[in-house]
Amino acid sequence: MRIRVLGSSAGGGFPQWNCNCPNCDGFRRGTLKARARTQSSIAISADGSDWLLVNASPDILTQIREAPELQPARAIRDSGIAAVLLMDAQIDHVTGLLMLRERQTPLPLLATPEVFSDISSGFPITGILSHYCGVQRQELPIDGSTVNVPGLPGLQVQTVSLSSKPPPYSPFRGNPRPGDNIGLLISNPATGQRAFYAPGLAEVTSALIELMSGCAVVLIDGTFWTHDEMQRLGLSAKAALDMGHLPQSGPGGMIEQLDRLPAGIRKILIHINNTNPMLVEDSDERAELTAHGIEVAHDGMDITF
Ligand code: MLT
Ligand code: MN
Ligand code: ZN
Repeated sequence: MRIRVLGSSAGGGFPQWNCNCPNCDGFRRGTLKARARTQSSIAISADGSDWLLVNASPDILTQIREAPELQPARAIRDSGIAAVLLMDAQIDHVTGLLMLRERQTPLPLLATPEVFSDISSGFPITGILSHYCGVQRQELPIDGSTVNVPGLPGLQVQTVSLSSKPPPYSPFRGNPRPGDNIGLLISNPATGQRAFYAPGLAEVTSALIELMSGCAVVLIDGTFWTHDEMQRLGLSAKAALDMGHLPQSGPGGMIEQLDRLPAGIRKILIHINNTNPMLVEDSDERAELTAHGIEVAHDGMDITF
């Protein structure tokens, strides 16, 4: 089973178009050791030619161009993307659906009823797409049952409901429902090994620690280093948890949570905001992660399990 990281950044990407925070500014000036990153998406394949796209980022066309394996070219119009699964209805995870409108058949789209409700009302993507390729809607259960993905017989996934936040445009932003945000458990039937993906995560429960303890790889929310990162830079009045993201540092933070996992599990942070100091490869923060055996995802990262 392969996972290709298409975009490792949070909403806005790195550098962000209008941002002059120390990271974005330093990157543009060439004074920082860091890589540019596109917005949040991964692709999963059991056979290397048919893929499940997880999240459709606003940067999807660039990401496809950078990933020739997503383009097997078996017909005059063809794509390796067999289906799309959404982790939530955030702009950085769904806007790319509009870029897939040239399909000749409806796009197989897997999401929870809560996510389908947001992307058919507040941000009515499914309604807009009905005038182009349309979507073939498959509702995701959040009861842990196994989901077979259309067109991808070698792949089995399960979802878990997570504590995080629906998008700012959602009427449920202040009152999250189960199903607004999910984590994805991906199984390799050939080896029995599993990977867990959760780009938006506010609370790591003991049930989640148990679930991640049975995985070979976890790809988890790496949005903010500190709770007040955006506030301290004067970029937002909101703290990390107000936006549905558990910061890495501090008591109870993601580093402490990942330290609870047994040895041997590959731990990777993903969905990284452009303000996060761990983006800088020779920073103290990056060294701290390395000391804890935690990796930082980058665009193009290939994970096999
Ligand atoms: C989030 O996950 O909080 C989003 O990246 C926010 C956004 O898309 O603006
Ligand atoms: Mn996001
Ligand atoms: Zn920035």
